[in-house]
Amino acid sequence: MSENLHSSKFPSILKDFPQMVYGGDYNPDQWIDRPDILKEDDRLMKLAGINSVTLNVFAWKALEPEEGVYTLEWLDKTMDRMAENGIKVILATPSGARPAWMDRNHPEVLRMNANRVRNLHGERHNHCYTSPYYRKKVWEMNQMLAKRYKDHPALAMWHISNEYGGECHCPLCQEAFRDWLREKYHNNIEELNHEWWTGFWSKKFSRFEEIESPAPQGEHAIHGLYLDWLRFVTHQTKDFMDQEICAVKEITGDILVTTNYMSGFAGLNYWELSEHLDIISWDSYPTWHHSQIEDNEMAAKVAFYHDLFRSIKQRPFLLMESTPSLVNWQLVNKLKRPGMNILSSMQAVAHGSDSVQYFQWRKGRGAAEKFHGAVVDHEGSEHTRVFKECADLGEILKKCSDIQGTNIYAKAAVIYDYENRWAIENMNGLSFDNREYERTCMESYEALWRHSIAVDVIDMTQPLENYQLVIAPMLYMLRNDIAARLKRFVENGGILVTTYITGYVNENDLCYLGGFPGDGLKEVIGVWEEEIDSIYAEDKNSFTFKEKILSKQTYPVKDYCAIIHPLENTEVLASYDDDFYQGMAALTKHSYGKGAVYHIAARTEVEFLTDFYGQIAKEISLENNFPLAKELPEGINIQKREGNGETYYFFMNYGKKEQTITFSEEIIWIDLVRQEKFTMKKIVMNPLEVRIFKNNV
Ligand code: GLA
Ligand code: ZN
Repeated sequence: MSENLHSSKFPSILKDFPQMVYGGDYNPDQWIDRPDILKEDDRLMKLAGINSVTLNVFAWKALEPEEGVYTLEWLDKTMDRMAENGIKVILATPSGARPAWMDRNHPEVLRMNANRVRNLHGERHNHCYTSPYYRKKVWEMNQMLAKRYKDHPALAMWHISNEYGGECHCPLCQEAFRDWLREKYHNNIEELNHEWWTGFWSKKFSRFEEIESPAPQGEHAIHGLYLDWLRFVTHQTKDFMDQEICAVKEITGDILVTTNYMSGFAGLNYWELSEHLDIISWDSYPTWHHSQIEDNEMAAKVAFYHDLFRSIKQRPFLLMESTPSLVNWQLVNKLKRPGMNILSSMQAVAHGSDSVQYFQWRKGRGAAEKFHGAVVDHEGSEHTRVFKECADLGEILKKCSDIQGTNIYAKAAVIYDYENRWAIENMNGLSFDNREYERTCMESYEALWRHSIAVDVIDMTQPLENYQLVIAPMLYMLRNDIAARLKRFVENGGILVTTYITGYVNENDLCYLGGFPGDGLKEVIGVWEEEIDSIYAEDKNSFTFKEKILSKQTYPVKDYCAIIHPLENTEVLASYDDDFYQGMAALTKHSYGKGAVYHIAARTEVEFLTDFYGQIAKEISLENNFPLAKELPEGINIQKREGNGETYYFFMNYGKKEQTITFSEEIIWIDLVRQEKFTMKKIVMNPLEVRIFKNNV
């Protein structure tokens, strides 16, 4: 990465507002009959240090109570009120939920499930993405909003719809799917038959008209069909979303657009969806203080998503939603302990977020979300624990204004690919209850995160040139020329890590012939995988290194053990200890061009990955975010943002203990929050503490 990038900075995401954005979902439309409460909101927002709100999500009925009847006065007033208070508005398009009149008058907008039963009116996000009526209505609504507020001083960004997701199997969508297939397969049914391997079970199609989306009572045995259906769902959702974007951009070309993504959700390929979004934003609701998952481990999982959503645009993103206290939809809805809201919010900033935003500003009085956490409780004052912590965070964010627009420049990447996930999860094979593709990618990420090494989380279509280390766990499907690009990456000096089930199938889920991994990767990785053993939780096995190069010589394996054959010139680093493949290679290194590939043939624990990647990082001088501290105590994580010639360091303690981090030399730093200059050789951190420093060298 050139020095240039480090010395520049991204422009503010909100129009003319170079500050850390602090706000959240605000629903004055639910309080129209309570002007006293709206007035109180103004006072409380000031006290909490709120500088932005997300308005209008789900407000369609308040905007158009009957077809063609518009009531926008409440929104006008709110926009004016926000402008008067210096609060920026992220204005949502209201397509995430529809009023009952629309479903009554135009039932085609209602979604049809995979079992071909049409939904009734209800819930939200319950619409067909193909419906011409809904598309037209949304276009008109969005244009009306854009025209009305284009010159309004409060309008700072567009929030397109809300958490897109789900599929519709209605006749309109079936037709659109078949058209999409016709285009993809050049109107040639034989080409489709070939790619879907339909010779099997007499499945050959004679014409495109015979094809239907997968259904529980119908077709679900053709993996190519399933994959193409999911691709189509992304395509159709994107098409719908792009039209929403176009409607507002036509009028307000200078206002950036986003939509909010979800962690863990795999119904859409977010990389594809993002093409016409300016900014990525996401909704983060981790289960902190879990009885089975340490906060330190949870922090790594959340960091994975922050880095994934940052990596999509390689620029600052927004934390669009989070809760200041608790949610009301987990099995156990535990409160964030004192300190956690500040720590978890600053974690987002540390990984590249230019905002902290909540769902929601004020708890509603009724219905499904009345007990969901909010800045303002039913009690209604500023004298609650949660409000006070939110106000403290408001102060902190004010002092972090300069961080806005700075970025993260990672030299390591983990490949986590949505389409690969679809293929792995739909495969008949392996074990059915622990494919765990996402978790496996997260564990590789966590291993680097534990060393405080900056990581990008990318899909397999992304450029690899800027990385020293690329980890590609379970790269089952090879698409978009990834094999050739990995080859080039290693030839040019990159270090690649691959694992079991690499390179089994092409982009349409057809197996490679001639030994896995296919598409020329075998010669790069230096092994071929003959068989894969899925083992029970009680089946114990491990591998042992020939020489003790890590902290241990033997590490346990679980779930999957591949039987691999090293090619000539491939070095065997460790071998299996048990079963009929005892003594066979389990971990190899293959030098290739100027680089090398490490291949891990079995599923391992994070502990091994942490030791192993730590060693690789040392060998290739892949620095952590703060090289003056080589050994970081348990629970401590350090992240770094750069820009405008400044470097900002975030020290975070997710552990339960006070920890001391010792530096190899004394340094002079400015603590951004305390606004003091320190000369330091070590730092002591309390549990759940976060400190933000700027170097002053
Ligand atoms: C999602 C939605 C919000 C709200 C929250 C509750 O993220 O976008 O409208 O329902 O969940 O956690
Ligand atoms: Zn439909």
